[in-house]
Parts: sequence; structure tokens; C-alpha cells
Amino acid sequence: MTVFKKHVFICTSGKTCPDQGAEEVLGEFRKEISERGLKKEIRINKAGCFDQCGNGPLVVVYPETVWYAFVKTEDVKEIVEDHLLNDKPVTRLIYDERGRTT
Ligand code: FES
Repeated sequence: MTVFKKHVFICTSGKTCPDQGAEEVLGEFRKEISERGLKKEIRINKAGCFDQCGNGPLVVVYPETVWYAFVKTEDVKEIVEDHLLNDKPVTRLIYDERGRTT
């Protein structure tokens, strides 16, 4: 069994993320990972509420524990290429306890 290099969780079942496009973002991540042949290295999972409702879609990437807020389908390619493949988190989308940092 292989351990995933990156593990991406997307809130798809809380109060607000589903209405903010979470399923579409999930689908875009899965499409990108599949098309690039990365399914054995990078795992995309649905998640329940992260208790950050209203800031979604929320995405968390492990092992770095980087949180992204207000992610749109058009942001996914950048997250995949910069963060998941090149270990450079997309700073303009990062979210912490203060909210989105940019
Ligand atoms: S609904 Fe996504 S953080 Fe609560």
C-alpha cells in the first residue's frame, strides 16, 4: 500500500460550502488529478464541516495543513500545479484563524 504524498479534503456537506460550489471544486480537483495520472500519489476526499462556514468552499491540504478559503474551480489548477506538485502553497487563497490572509 502506498502512502499519499498529498491528501486534500474539501468540505462538501456542511451548511454553506455545498451552496458555494464545493461539489464543483471537488470535481475539478478529481479531474485534474486523474488527467495527470496522480491518483496513486494525491488523494482527494470529501469532508464534513470544518466549522468555518461561510468562507467556502474550504479546502485543506495535508501533510502541510494549509487551509484555503473561497476556492473557485478556476483556482484548482493553480493549487495542483503550485502546491500539490511543487510544494508552494497558493498564498492568495490561504485561510487562517483571521480569515483569508489576502
Ligand atoms: S460548511 Fe464548509 S466549513 Fe462549514
